[in-house]
Amino acid sequence: MTNAADEKKVNKDLKNPVARILGIETSCDETAASVVENGREILSSAVASQADLHAQFGGIFPEVASRQHILAIYPIVDQALKEAHLRLADLDGIAVTRGPGLPGSLVVGINMAKGLVIGSGLPLLGINHLEGHLYSAWLREEGKGKKKEPKFPLLALLVSGGHTELILMKDHLVYERLGGTLDDAAGEAFDKVARLLDLGYPGGPAIQEAAEGGNPKAFDFPRAWLDDSYNFSFSGIKTAVLREVQQLEKQKSKLPIADLAASFQAAVVEVLIRKTILAAEEYKTKDILIAGGVSANRALREQISAQKKYRVHIPPLSLCTDNAAMIAGAGCYRFCAGQRNDLEMDAAPTWSISEL
Ligand code: KG4
Ligand code: ZN
Repeated sequence: MTNAADEKKVNKDLKNPVARILGIETSCDETAASVVENGREILSSAVASQADLHAQFGGIFPEVASRQHILAIYPIVDQALKEAHLRLADLDGIAVTRGPGLPGSLVVGINMAKGLVIGSGLPLLGINHLEGHLYSAWLREEGKGKKKEPKFPLLALLVSGGHTELILMKDHLVYERLGGTLDDAAGEAFDKVARLLDLGYPGGPAIQEAAEGGNPKAFDFPRAWLDDSYNFSFSGIKTAVLREVQQLEKQKSKLPIADLAASFQAAVVEVLIRKTILAAEEYKTKDILIAGGVSANRALREQISAQKKYRVHIPPLSLCTDNAAMIAGAGCYRFCAGQRNDLEMDAAPTWSISEL
């Protein structure tokens, strides 16, 4: 079999990138590998989550994460190739998350990718994890047919465990970062409040579930508008929940978990949506893209989708949280744009999207 890019020559038309890329992702607590064709078609996607392992610590334990990646990386890459019915020789390149993320976790994926590159002679592509999240919006789930694709310029809200960013995406691979969190990321706030309410880890899905049937207006938690700037702050709301819990415990009241979770979730979602809409209005974008782990949140998805003035793009649930299809997807675009990394490539644990 010949490479996809050989068949149609490497094209620089980023609307229709032609490439078959293996993606590897180990930036946090998921070991993942995937093969994606032409930036859109997922040929395979294997994810080994460590969430259960970290649950006992109430958060990610970096040493444990790296060791677990070492155990899982080979079988996961093998699984991704087998499920795609492909060998390395059938691919055009190997994309791997270079950052941002945990240094000890990133190097496991990077070293695996380098080993495969040495063995196969394929090009190496270092991918920014946040760019990967954005490109999850172009991926198609198997058997789900065509969907409307994002159009440029678009306003992207990237909400994950480590990041909360508003990004103006002017074209493929062209970004302007408008703002981000000054303290906790949105996902981090979900995780910390879940710990406070004894709901377990990861906190996002736990809060969402606990909030079902709760009254989102029961508690008026603070919204940090920050003069309507495009920056965010979520540490105040976390402290406000803590104070409320302490107060209730002092009165020996039973904690109204559903109301606390629903009110917290409502406050976070309101801020995320209002700032996204403000930015979309200022930059006159018709398309809004939401990506990252918190974009799996039902309240956020429903409320942003109700904004009929905009075409809203949110990846399917399986592609919101960390996966390697998004890295392979972004890798197809980077490959077609001519990016090639050498074997000196190091991890970039604090790599901002503004540096792209
Ligand atoms: O993108 P991601 O998988 O990893 C990072 O790049 O950080 O995001 C993980 C974050 C966690 O903080 C998790 O609590 C949050 O996404 N999350 C959610 C939901 N599912 C995951 N937050 C709110 N609602 C959810 N349903
Ligand atoms: Zn992520």
